[in-house]
Amino acid sequence: MIGTDINYAIQLLQAEAVVAIPTETVYGLAGNALSAKAVSTIFEVKNRPSFDPLIIHTSQFERIAGFITDMPEAARKLASRFMPGPLTLLLPKSDDIPDIVTAGSPRVAVRIPAHPMTQELLAALDFPLAAPSANPFGYISPTTAQHVADQLGDKIPYILDGGPCLVGVESTIVGFEDGQVVVYRKGGIAVEDIEAVVGPVVARPHSASNPAAPGMLKSHYAPSAPVVLGDITNLLLQYKEQKAGAITFRKAAPGISPERQLVLSPGGDLVEAARNLFAGMRRLDALQLDVILAELLPEEGLGRAINDRLRRAAA
Ligand code: TXA
Ligand code: MG
Repeated sequence: MIGTDINYAIQLLQAEAVVAIPTETVYGLAGNALSAKAVSTIFEVKNRPSFDPLIIHTSQFERIAGFITDMPEAARKLASRFMPGPLTLLLPKSDDIPDIVTAGSPRVAVRIPAHPMTQELLAALDFPLAAPSANPFGYISPTTAQHVADQLGDKIPYILDGGPCLVGVESTIVGFEDGQVVVYRKGGIAVEDIEAVVGPVVARPHSASNPAAPGMLKSHYAPSAPVVLGDITNLLLQYKEQKAGAITFRKAAPGISPERQLVLSPGGDLVEAARNLFAGMRRLDALQLDVILAELLPEEGLGRAINDRLRRAAA
């Protein structure tokens, strides 16, 4: 069921059930992070492998202290600048956080979402919420309540509808290793904005075999149609015999019908492009295309997060 009843969502979460919740990045599939029952339901509903850890969500900075054992100075600076917001910090976990949440890792991922409805929800709860994106494992993340309903509607009791997500890509995940600031996932906060606060960062390439970030698998965000990256005009020639869709940044691809096109931002705005990406990919994927052709965006600002998602959709 989709609705806007925060009190009902609170009741369900207190009873260790899972609820889909809006955030400014993407919708999450939330459960009591301190309840093994709720957390294992999240893994089950998503069909997510147990080695892939979950982000915990809370309403305010002061509450993070109970879930971690140390906060480096750089983390503190980033938190004061970007929390609440699309930033996730990887920090050494306290014993209060069950191992099932972090997949056995000594670090826990913590985020404070800015969405007002979820802020209200979190403030009313006396436990943090574990919440991965509310999609079946490996598929495109949901940016509307209807996206969640389309895929998980019959598996969960309630979807809290907070409207379409304003950021549209997942949070930027940042950790700290030997005095270095490391970006594990490019997301809703641009790397440039992080560097403006803490200086140069290292970006760790995502990989399934990276023990520091086990869940950042290479193939992800994948629609059912294969995705091919390159120069759109060339690709259209190459795939002219096939039923093709196109994802472009500013200009529509020549010679294919408008409904098979996703133009991310005609005005060239990377923030708008991020907001449009996942909903557009779902729309194209519903057309039973043979192939989705896509061009990469400028490698700057949120363009980096978008390109990361496109590359992994194509992997
Ligand atoms: O914007 C977001 O971050 C959304 C909203 C719902 O908050 N959540 C989200 O969660 O994208 P999820 O589970 O789809 O992606 C979280 C990523 C995964 O790749 C996971 O492996 C990684 O974060 N992660 C979580 N906890 C971790 C940990 N303790 N160590 C390393 N990686 C971790
Ligand atoms: Mg996800």
